[in-house]
Amino acid sequence: MTGSQNFIKENKERFLKELMDLLRIPSVSADPHFSKDVHATAELVATHLRSIGIDQVEICETKGYPIVYGEKVVDTKLPTVLVYGHYDVQPADPIDLWTSPPFEPVIQKTEIHPEGAIFARGACDDKGQMFMHVKAVEAMIKSNELPCNVKFMIEGEEEVGSENLGIFVKENVEKLKADIILVSDTGMLANDVPSITTGLRGLSYVEVEVTGPNRDLHSGLYGGCVANPINILAKMIASLHDENNHITIPGFYDKVVELSDEERAEMAKAPFSHANYCKALDIADVMGENGYSTPERGSIRPTLDVNGIWGGYTGEGAKTVIASKAYAKISMRLVPDQDPVEITELFQKHFESIGPAGVKVKVTPHHGGEAAVTPIDSIGYKAASLAYEKTFGVKAIPVRSGGSIPIVAMFEKVLGLKTILMGFGLDSDAIHSPNEHFGLFNYYRGIETIPYFYKNFTELSK
Ligand code: BES
Ligand code: MN
Ligand code: MN
Repeated sequence: MTGSQNFIKENKERFLKELMDLLRIPSVSADPHFSKDVHATAELVATHLRSIGIDQVEICETKGYPIVYGEKVVDTKLPTVLVYGHYDVQPADPIDLWTSPPFEPVIQKTEIHPEGAIFARGACDDKGQMFMHVKAVEAMIKSNELPCNVKFMIEGEEEVGSENLGIFVKENVEKLKADIILVSDTGMLANDVPSITTGLRGLSYVEVEVTGPNRDLHSGLYGGCVANPINILAKMIASLHDENNHITIPGFYDKVVELSDEERAEMAKAPFSHANYCKALDIADVMGENGYSTPERGSIRPTLDVNGIWGGYTGEGAKTVIASKAYAKISMRLVPDQDPVEITELFQKHFESIGPAGVKVKVTPHHGGEAAVTPIDSIGYKAASLAYEKTFGVKAIPVRSGGSIPIVAMFEKVLGLKTILMGFGLDSDAIHSPNEHFGLFNYYRGIETIPYFYKNFTELSK
C-alpha cells in the first residue's frame, strides 16, 4: 500500500480543498428550501466518483433525494466492498451560535485538534467521513493498488430517516451484491484511543399533541377551571420516567437484551472519565437509569427523550393565555431486540391512556429503525482492526455507540450483509450542533486507514 500512502501524502492539500468545496453546498435534507442544493450535492458527489475512475456512476432518482451509485469491478472473483455514506446534513440552526458561517468552512485549532479542524455543517457527519472513502479509493486506483471490487452507495436522506434508501435496497438486491458493507458515519473514543463501533441503537420517534379547550382562553377567566394542555403535557412527560429513571411504559423493556456480567466488565475497560465528561459539557453531574454506568446508559440501554416542546405564548413580554394545544417531539433510542414498530405502539397506547378526561391526546409516529450489533470475530472486523493497528500503532477497542443508522439493520436483513463501522469522528466534534467540526488529523488518518482495510479484507477472504 506504499503507492497509495505516497499518493495521499502528495495530494493532502487538494483532498482538503475538495472537501471544503463539498461542504459549501447546504445539503439540508430536512428543509425543502434547500432542495436545489441537496440535488447539486448529489451531482458533485457523482462528479467526484467519475473523476477518480469509478465506472457506471449513476444518480438514482427516488421519491425524495437521489442516491449516488457507482462501482469499479477489478475482477468478479475478488471480494466486493460496498461503501455507504450520506451527503445530506442536519439543519444548521441555531445559526447565531456558530462562530463562523456553517456553510463557509474554515480551519481552526482547538484543544482536542491542535493541528486544526474543519468547521462546517456536515464536516464530520457525514460529508467529511464519506469523502475519506472517495479519496482513499482514488489513492488506490491511481497507484494501481485497488485489491478488490468496490461499490459506492451515497444517499441524501439519512438525516430524515432513509425511507427511500430502504426501498432502493429492497429493489436492488442483485446490484448491491457485495461481501461487506463499509461505513464511516460514527466516531471513535479519542485520537490516541481508536475504536471500532460494534453497535448502534434503534429509534422510535413520535410527535404528540394534547388538545384542551377548543380555543385559546383568558387565563384569568378560565385558569383553574379547565385542563391546561401545557400543564398536562408536562405532567404526562414527567411520568414517563420513575424515580430510578426507568421508563414507565408497560412492556417497554420486555424484549431488551441484557448484557452478561462478562460483557459489561469488558465494556468497562474502555477508558471513561466522569470528571472530563462533566467538564466538557459544563454540568455538575450526570443523570440516567439507576444501576448503569454512563457509557452503558448511552449505548446498551434504551432511553426516552423530549427533543422539542412547544405551545402557548412564547413571544416578547407576557400574554395571559391558556393555550388550546401543546406539542412535543419525543425520541426513544432502542437496543436489541426491541422492535421500533412495537415500541411505537406501546408508547401510543400508554400515552393516550394517561391523559385526563379534559384533554384529547394524539400520537403521530415519525421514522424509526432497528438497533444493530456487529460481531468482533468476523474477517471484516479483523480487517478493520489490523488497519487501525497499522496507522494508529495501537489496537482499536470495540465500542457500542448510542447513535442510530437505521439502514444498517436493513443491510443485514435484506442483503444478508454485515456492516463494518469505521468511524473517525469524536463525540466532541459537535455533530448536529452549532460549530460542527472534523479534525484534519481524523480526516487524513481515515483516508490512510481505509486502504489497509481493503488489503486486509481481500487477503483474509482468500
Ligand atoms: N451519523 C449519525 C449517527 C451516529 C453518530 C452514530 C455518531 C454513531 C455515532 C447519523 O447521521 C444520525 O444522526 N442518525 C440519526 C438517526 C436518523 C434516523 C435521523 C440519529 O442518530 O439521531
Ligand atoms: Mn451521519
Ligand atoms: Mn446525523
